[in-house]
Amino acid sequence: MPKAKVAIFISGGGTNMAALLYASRLPDCPFEVVLVASNKEGAGGLKLAEAEGISTFAHSHKGMERAEHDAVMERAAQDAGADYIVLAGYMRILSQEFVSSWAGKIINIHPSLLPKYKGLDTHMRAIEAGDSHGGATVHLVTQELDSGAILEQVKVAIVPGDTPVSLAERVKLAEHQLYPRALSAYVGRGSDPAFLLDKVRELALKLPETHERESHGSPGFRVGTEKSGKFFAHFNDQHHGSEHVAVLVKTGSMDELLSLVETQPGTYFKPAYYGASGWVGVILNRPDVDWDHVSEWLERSWHSVAPNRLTKLIDAADQF
Ligand code: GAR
Repeated sequence: MPKAKVAIFISGGGTNMAALLYASRLPDCPFEVVLVASNKEGAGGLKLAEAEGISTFAHSHKGMERAEHDAVMERAAQDAGADYIVLAGYMRILSQEFVSSWAGKIINIHPSLLPKYKGLDTHMRAIEAGDSHGGATVHLVTQELDSGAILEQVKVAIVPGDTPVSLAERVKLAEHQLYPRALSAYVGRGSDPAFLLDKVRELALKLPETHERESHGSPGFRVGTEKSGKFFAHFNDQHHGSEHVAVLVKTGSMDELLSLVETQPGTYFKPAYYGASGWVGVILNRPDVDWDHVSEWLERSWHSVAPNRLTKLIDAADQF
């Protein structure tokens, strides 16, 4: 899989940015840093990024509308070819337009164990509350401040005599471990068989009267009763020497199968054993899988083996 391109937004020292940047240079990291951008021209992290040969960009937000400044930052990220925007101590609330057009593609790190202590002064609030631990959270950015889906967290013990400054220092050490790992898992999820199986499972089990049943050691999905159901999909994780993670679905004929494989070899393959009986492999560990397309295949395959009493209902519903 090609590496995900990330633009990192900072407002300050940029130690998390540095942790991400050096992680990106280790073997097998699934992301590369294409830009470091800031709303502060003097942000310390910009100099480091420059010295490391990364493109940088700075534009002060002063005197600008929020959405207008976001648009300037967004343009810089787009020009750099970013797939993701990664906030690392970027102390700006983002406008609704910006957040919704990058839904699922903006990631943030926050210095508390969310949902505790959203906003500012997190360390002071944790100490004053007498908490045993502070920590950090990597999460997706949504419109509501510090409230998007949590990707990963790490706890940091609060020790007697801790001040907000001493705790912040240790939390940063923890953040530097957490952020590269959580970001790698998130941007690399498209080649993670467990993530891909979950997606297939969700789509397959949405169809009427379906259940999961293992077949030859792999997850499979059947339609009909537990007793007499028929398989309409099989999940393959690099089976029989293939490099693909794939879902196998039924085509209408061998001609159709062969033509799909020949004309779209990046999407389809003829799987070992199953191919002989008309099952085609839809490759899932490739960039930008269209899950609606996978869902259509599952539905079609379901339809081809489902009992009449189920397909009749669906076909009748489709006429309206
Ligand atoms: C980090 O602790 C980060 O969690 C926090 O700012 C610090 C930036 O440090 N972010 C927030 O408070 C966001 N609400 P850095 O510039 O050294 O990475």
